[in-house]
Order: sequence, then structure tokens, then C-alpha cells
Amino acid sequence: MSTDNLLTLEGVQTHIGAYHILHGVDLAVPKGQLTMLLGRNGAGKTTTLRTIMGLWHASQGRVQFAGKDITALHTPQIAELGVAYVPENMGIFSDLTVKENMVLAARGAKNADAIDDTRLKWIFKLFPAVEKFWNHPAGKLSGGQKQMLAVSRAIVEPRQLLIIDEPSKGLAPVMINNMIEAFGELKRSGVTILLVEQNIHFAQRLGDTVAVMDNGRVVHSGSMAAFSADAQLQQSLLGLAL
Ligand SMILES: Nc1ncnc2c1ncn2[C@@H]1O[C@H](COP(=O)(O)OP(=O)(O)OP(=O)(O)O)[C@@H](O)[C@H]1O
Ligand SMILES: [Mg+2]
Repeated sequence: MSTDNLLTLEGVQTHIGAYHILHGVDLAVPKGQLTMLLGRNGAGKTTTLRTIMGLWHASQGRVQFAGKDITALHTPQIAELGVAYVPENMGIFSDLTVKENMVLAARGAKNADAIDDTRLKWIFKLFPAVEKFWNHPAGKLSGGQKQMLAVSRAIVEPRQLLIIDEPSKGLAPVMINNMIEAFGELKRSGVTILLVEQNIHFAQRLGDTVAVMDNGRVVHSGSMAAFSADAQLQQSLLGLAL
């Protein structure tokens, strides 16, 4: 069973300073699927992602990626294994152009010519705004365009696992639809994706599997189809109106 999971967390506990934030997170991200991590504000979603990436370190429990224990690794080593992370603040450089942001994201590329051409064309097709604003300062982009640049940076090189914190945050419905199409396309290309989402409609349209957090733990996990069909469960776990 576990061989089908690209990423697993077992009993992960995280402290931030004096605060005990994660109380034993169990999470499995099946290979080739899109897993949605849901939960109320403050449930521990971002802390879980940061713990996976080695930005916080688990005080207890184990994080495994592709069969390797990564619990104690540092962020650059985790990235090196093929994990890309787009944080809530997107991590783009506002003063640099879109092009410069992309070049910086491609390890080893000294200029745009060094970025794999086929890959860049594929990214332009997924996110036309990245091509359109190629020579513009990234700070001038709209929130949705910045989000697309952030995801583009994460996939500028082949990745096994893409981890994104709230990609739909602040996006207009039409942008959300574009994003859903792009993630669908990414998934078809074989990338495994772990997304944190607040937008339940976005989550339902894209997710294969779902994990719901509350109070520093995963309190429900299963197929998105089953979760979508169970309004009672959504209500009790997320406080959504029936
Ligand atoms: N740097 C920090 N110092 C202290 N407490 C923190 C820190 N970061 C997060 N927390 C606390 O940890 C808990 C979980 O926060 P986290 O950001 O993981 O939640 P979240 O599920 O991502 O919420 P949201 O949906 O609002 O983004 C919250 O109670 C938060 O206040
Ligand atoms: Mg968060």
C-alpha cells in the first residue's frame, strides 16, 4: 500500500517556539494524484506544509518522500529531491521582471536561454500571462497573475511533487477556472500535487483525495468524491452551510 504514496506523514508533531502546533499529523499523498488539504483557519495546514519542506522541523513523527526519510533534512535538500513549494505569499521578487523571476527559479540557468525551451513553451501555454508580461516587473502583476508566476516558477524544472498553499486565494472566478485547468494539465503530465484550499468548489473540482485538518491533526481522509457527496461531513468538519 505505502509504495503507492509519494509522501507520507506519520504522527508528525511540530512546535513553533513555545507553541505546540501539530499534534500528530497522519497524511498520505498518493503518487500521481491531487490531494487537497482542507480545514478551518488556524487548523495547521500551512504549518504542515512548512514541516514537510523542512522550514519547521518535526519534534516527533516521520516524513517520508519517495521511500526516503526526509524528517531531518534541510529545505534545499528536500527541494533537490524534486519537491517544489509555493508558499502563501508566493515568494516572487516584485522588483525583478517575470523573466528574471523564472531564471532565478531554474537552478543552474544563468539566463532565459538556459531554461529548457519545450518546458518554457508548455508553461506559456498553461499560463499565458507569464509570456505576456515576460519583461514586466513582477510587482506590477495582478494577484492572479502573480499566483500563476509563482506556480510557473515551481514547475520551471521537472518536479515529482508540487506543494501549493492556497492558490485560489483572492482570485476572480475566471482566474480560478484557468487555475483549475492548469492544475488538471499538470496532473496529466504526471506531477503529484498537494494543495491547501479554502475554496471548497475549487477543491471538489480538482481533488482526487482529501484530508481535513482540525486543531493540528488530520481528522478525516478519503476520496474527494465521497467527501463531496457528504454535505453532513463537510458541515461538521469545515462548518460549511448545508
Ligand atoms: N510563527 C508562528 N508562531 C506562533 N504560532 C504560529 C506561527 N505560525 C502559525 N502559528 C499558529 O499555528 C496554528 C496553525 O497555523 P497555520 O498557519 O498552520 O494554520 P492554517 O491552517 O494554515 O490557517 P489558514 O487557513 O488561516 O491559513 C495557528 O493557531 C497559528 O496561530
Ligand atoms: Mg495557512
